Amino acid sequence: MKNEQIYACAKCGAQFQKWSGRCTGCGAWGTIGEDALETEEAAPSRALSKKPGKTNAFSDLTKENGSAERVKTLHAPFDELLGGGLVPGSVTLFGGEPGIGKSTLLSQIALTLSQAGQSVLYVTGEESPSQVRLRLERLAPAIPPSLRFLDRNDAEVIAATILKEKPALVIADSVQTLRVESVSGEPGNISQIKAGASILIEAAKKSGVPLVLVGQVTKDGDLAGPRLLEHLVDTVLMLEGDRSHTFRMLRVLKHRFGNTEECSVFSMTERGLEIVSDPSSALLADRPVQASGTIVSCLLEGGHPLACELQALIAPAGYGTPLRRVSGFDSNRVSLLLAVLGRRAGVPCADMDVFFNVVGGIRVSEPGLDLAVALALASAKYDCAVPDSVMAWGEVGLAGELRPVSRPEARLKEAKRLGFKTVIVPKQKKQVTLDGLEIRACSTLREAIQAAGLKKS
Ligand code: TYD
Ligand code: MG
Repeated sequence: MKNEQIYACAKCGAQFQKWSGRCTGCGAWGTIGEDALETEEAAPSRALSKKPGKTNAFSDLTKENGSAERVKTLHAPFDELLGGGLVPGSVTLFGGEPGIGKSTLLSQIALTLSQAGQSVLYVTGEESPSQVRLRLERLAPAIPPSLRFLDRNDAEVIAATILKEKPALVIADSVQTLRVESVSGEPGNISQIKAGASILIEAAKKSGVPLVLVGQVTKDGDLAGPRLLEHLVDTVLMLEGDRSHTFRMLRVLKHRFGNTEECSVFSMTERGLEIVSDPSSALLADRPVQASGTIVSCLLEGGHPLACELQALIAPAGYGTPLRRVSGFDSNRVSLLLAVLGRRAGVPCADMDVFFNVVGGIRVSEPGLDLAVALALASAKYDCAVPDSVMAWGEVGLAGELRPVSRPEARLKEAKRLGFKTVIVPKQKKQVTLDGLEIRACSTLREAIQAAGLKKS
């Protein structure tokens, strides 16, 4: 086998003969690094010299092979999110931005499981064992002896340890620090990550030990490098949020053994991440009273309704291109809604600086939030407050028309539970209603702006 120098993009994995600043595959800047290419004889010619494999009928598979028995981590919210716990031999990729709380949550899980007398192996790489110990001490009064660490980054050594010790759970923190001797390049580059993870994945499958691989994520939300691991692992979890806020969302992006739509909300406290039992109320706790530019909407997260507050501020632009600063929501979507507001609803904002924010540092992406975003912007533009007892949802089309959202009944119930009196929603043939809630059904954004009582002051 001959190793030749080639280059690969850390984001999409495209390979190049020459280094360049920008990947032509995905358009990302500064993601191309060294990679090793294995040049061997063409695979088909080698195939002739191999012994063929044995095929089997699916119907002959015994039930045990298919049934998903679970290893409970005993951390209740985590087990629930995964539909009962981790599946033996399964591999979970746990992603999130640096400092978001990945190691914290996994330390809590490691502690709960080891406190129940089960052995847990924490492979340190990102931090030194004493740093991990400091965190563990912060999270629990005593660290059980069955919680062990391995301070190695050689993937083959880690795999051998898993196969020999067969702990109840292995946490490898992180996949970016794994190293494989036979592969060229520094830890963290594509080929090292791929090779290191594959070795650990194989060890997990062979030993039946569930494995959690921590993957650092870049600012734009990509599992840097680990993106390529998504198809190799059984489950992909993503911890999201804003480091300067307390709320964190743990989402299931892929799950071979259960629902992918799941999502839990945690808050970061001095005792680690704690599950938030009523996230809607928590997110609305510090709402300003009768403030212009703010409105509450309800989206569906993990199949559950979640109310969140949206805030907009609009001010005349100084000079040059007006500013557009958006956090927690797709900024292109905000630009689109500004255009729709201007062209279809008579609320022009073209020469204004626009700031938009989802309160609590959470990120939301449902199109059902469009209407509330547009109303927050209109309210900010007119400096006229939407009454505090009003909630809104609906998708906004390019013609300024409102389109229905999924499961309106769940959202209505949540609005009523939280004490809202009026909801502004898209008009539907079969309008869903709920006793005790005034439904203002509108077919256009223009109508909705009126229904919200917004006018130029
Ligand atoms: P950490 O789990 O180290 O992040 P990651 O592994 O994703 O990089 O979390 C780091 C932050 O969490 C750090 O800023 C301190 C904070 N933290 C708490 O607020 N409370 C706690 O109990 C712990 C352990 C950490
Ligand atoms: Mg960490």
